[in-house]
This record gives sequence, C-alpha cells and structure tokens, in this order.
Amino acid sequence: MKNCPIARREEALREREKSSEIEIARREDAIREREARIACLEGQVRRLGTPRLPPCTDDLHVRLKEVVARLPGWCPEEKAVWMADHIVQKGYKTATELGVYAGRSVFPIALAIAANQGHAVYAVDAWDNAVATSASINQPDDIWW
Ligand SMILES: C[S@@+](CC[C@H](N)C(=O)[O-])C[C@H]1O[C@@H](n2cnc3c(N)ncnc32)[C@H](O)[C@@H]1O
Repeated sequence: MKNCPIARREEALREREKSSEIEIARREDAIREREARIACLEGQVRRLGTPRLPPCTDDLHVRLKEVVARLPGWCPEEKAVWMADHIVQKGYKTATELGVYAGRSVFPIALAIAANQGHAVYAVDAWDNAVATSASINQPDDIWW
C-alpha cells in the first residue's frame, strides 16, 4: 500500500499541508509580535506628546530655551546653552550624541550645528531597555527605566 502512487501522493500532500500550517502559524506569531510592538510604540508616542519645533528665529538661545521646555528628558537648560555655545565657538559641523531619549539634548546640539551650517548630527540610543539599563545611572533613573 505504501508504494501505491496514490497513497504516496496523498502522503506528500499531507506533508505539504502540515508545513503550510506551520508556516502560517509562524507568520501569525510574527504579525502578533509586530502588532504588540506597534501598540507599545504608539503608547510611547502618545505619552511623549508631539514635540513641536519653536517658531523660527535666528536667536539660538531663544530656540534652545523653547526646545528644552518642550521636550522631556534630563538635559537642563544651562547644559543645553553651554553645549550649543561650545559647538558654535568651536565651529563644529557634525556631532554625535550617545543616549538620546526624547532629544532634549540632541536638539540643542542640532540647532548649534545648524547655526554653524554644519553637515550632520547622529543620534544613537539603545535598541532595548535591557541594554539601556545594563549600567546603573542612579536609583530614580534605574527605577524609571
Ligand atoms: C539619562 S538619559 C539622557 C537622555 C538625553 N541625553 C537627555 O539629556 O534627555 C540616557 C539615555 O542613554 C540611553 N542609553 C543607555 N545605555 C545606552 C547604550 N549602551 N547605548 C546607547 N544609548 C544608551 C538610554 O536609553 C537613554 O535614552
């Protein structure tokens, strides 16, 4: 019976059906995972609100203050002003920030680079909370993360 061509064909069809079902289940899992990730990111965006860039003015310090006031994060206004003045004074054309969060320090950096008619600002952050918390910062921040 096993060598019967019809039985072999039926067996082959059953095998194909089984592997198709496994593939469909795998794809459904991937879709569910992506939907959960999208929902999580949408929640984060809602919590952050939509930061708006300040109205255009050539006064770098005015723009810095507005950006710092609008964005959540750790960078105090004094630090933003100090970094921007330093960048302008040195005439830097590019910058890289490691540890960006919502941009409270990288936007001031970018405004200063733009004031220098610079080329690029690279903003780097961890791809996963576990990476972001691999080194302890301080207790309130660690708990927050
Ligand atoms: C204390 S927050 C400062 C954020 C921003 N510079 C500010 O002033 O608002 C530190 C940031 O560093 C990021 N971070 C921590 N470990 C990192 C890593 N290994 N690589 C890249 N970013 C990292 C965290 O995800 C977080 O966004």
